[in-house]
Amino acid sequence: MTATVDKDGCIGCALCESICPEVFRMDDDGKAEAYAEVTDENKDAAFEAEQSCPVSVIAIVED
Ligand code: F3S
Repeated sequence: MTATVDKDGCIGCALCESICPEVFRMDDDGKAEAYAEVTDENKDAAFEAEQSCPVSVIAIVED
């Protein structure tokens, strides 16, 4: 599965990175980016990050 972040809407709260650093990290602009695939090992945290984003700009889709 692949995670995406709509950077235009991201407010830079960094919650996703703190919940699932295996998939999300903050870029130089202070916005989140999804830098790794969602795998069986990290998917629970990745979905929690998706649900926790206060502005709902994270999506996780099947490849
Ligand atoms: Fe941005 Fe949402 Fe993460 S606001 S920093 S994508 S939790």
